[in-house]
Amino acid sequence: EPAAGFQNEPLTDFSIEANRTAMQEALDFVRSEFGQTYPLVIDGKSSESRSTLSSRNPSDISDVIGHVAAASADQAADAVDAAHRAFPQWAAMETSNRCEYLELIAAEMRERRFELAAWICFEVGKPWAEADGDVAEAIDFCMYYAHEMRRLDEPQQCDFKGEENSYSYRPRGVAVVIAPWNFPLAILTGMTTAAIVTGNTVVMKPAEQSSVVGAKLMEIIRNAGVPDGVVNFLPGIGEDVGPELIASPDVDMVCFTGSQTVGLEINRVASDTDERQTSVRHVIAEMGGKNAIIVDADADLDEAVVGVMHSAFGYAGQKCSACSRVIVLEGAYDQFIERLIEATKSLKIGAAEDPSTKVGPVIDDDAKQRILAAIKTVDAEVGEEVALSIDTKTLDKQGTFVGPHIITGVDPDSNLAQDEIFGPVLSVMKVRNLDEAFTVANNTRYALTGGVYSRSPSTLKRARNEFEVGNLYLNREITGAIVQRQPFGGFRMSGIGTKAGGPDYLLQFMVPINVTENT
Ligand code: SER
Repeated sequence: EPAAGFQNEPLTDFSIEANRTAMQEALDFVRSEFGQTYPLVIDGKSSESRSTLSSRNPSDISDVIGHVAAASADQAADAVDAAHRAFPQWAAMETSNRCEYLELIAAEMRERRFELAAWICFEVGKPWAEADGDVAEAIDFCMYYAHEMRRLDEPQQCDFKGEENSYSYRPRGVAVVIAPWNFPLAILTGMTTAAIVTGNTVVMKPAEQSSVVGAKLMEIIRNAGVPDGVVNFLPGIGEDVGPELIASPDVDMVCFTGSQTVGLEINRVASDTDERQTSVRHVIAEMGGKNAIIVDADADLDEAVVGVMHSAFGYAGQKCSACSRVIVLEGAYDQFIERLIEATKSLKIGAAEDPSTKVGPVIDDDAKQRILAAIKTVDAEVGEEVALSIDTKTLDKQGTFVGPHIITGVDPDSNLAQDEIFGPVLSVMKVRNLDEAFTVANNTRYALTGGVYSRSPSTLKRARNEFEVGNLYLNREITGAIVQRQPFGGFRMSGIGTKAGGPDYLLQFMVPINVTENT
């Protein structure tokens, strides 16, 4: 049963001319706003910093989206201090009031829907439909978490003769939120609003590459009237401010989404306690994936080709949910690969702001070099072969592009098949039967998303039991989880904690209390 009263925000239909015009106007407006400087916000006050970060459009790196203050370690300490001071009053506020702030944030996002999508499109190179989806998901997080918090606010009574027992939740304290650039609005909003609606105060650290979108969220949070100090905006270089934030004795929890390397480092630092601490820091970390789709011999290949292609190359493969391995049964192999290559060749690569673009740039030059280096590891000796490499020569002068790559004959134990590349690179593996397919699919340290295309109920049943992933998709693409409908997140090396946009998520931001009265 979907929770009554919560409804997902509909996506924008860009086949309607008025919507196309609105998006184009928003892109023009946002372009006219390029180049501004965005300060830190600590305790409601804007503050400058000694250095700034310049955020560029990955589709055309001559566009400077904006300059954002880069916090120092001292400013990180000030931000924690501000959050710590704001905590008692915020925690004591009626839950329904805190929920209303989230609804106000969502309302402004709805009003500025196209503008926010345009900022996302320019700052992180996300094509129109996906930039729009990012805003819709941010609105969903606000509305769903407000809705969930109202549900959780009711104490659970368990009364016996002579005693009354009441079970309820309290916030943890100060939460540090460290967000990725690939869902620059949705994930930053989701983690931040989950923390504040449960009564915590926040130091919000956006990814370096998407700090302007982070500044827009901060502006919306302030416009909603969230009291000073409840959310502090701390853009900057992770290495400069991260250790100060995570090791601070006044930080009670860290909520992170990003790479496995950074997630594990955060977990390590956070677990180190000293005598000034009054709580054991709680870590929530959503990390990477090396997600596979199995294509059964009897799969509907029309669907499988499109589903794999979208899952692998949507947003240039830069989603933790993206498909980076496809495992194909012998019986379907030749036909599937041929058709996948043909279909992928037809994808239009270009600037994200161009409405016809299907695959935009990768986030920056570091990412591009890392992805190209991974492709270079193709090993002729084991039969690995680059079956498709779409070149981006004409675009390379402007932006940081990598075309879709399909690599066949991939050794399931090789680096290509094991390491998260976070780019448009798909490894293909041929298997003889389903036993082998599931063995290869599960041969990874990650457990995030996975998919199976098959017409056999028995294969789908096996998948439900054997495929070790947090989000399993049968006969559809494996990206694009929707709040409440597909609570999102993995286990094993893919994450610590429960699913974003799901019924257990907010519980992680609180501690349960039981009160017994002798009556
Ligand atoms: N939630 C996104 C998806 O499902 C990934 O972060 O694609």
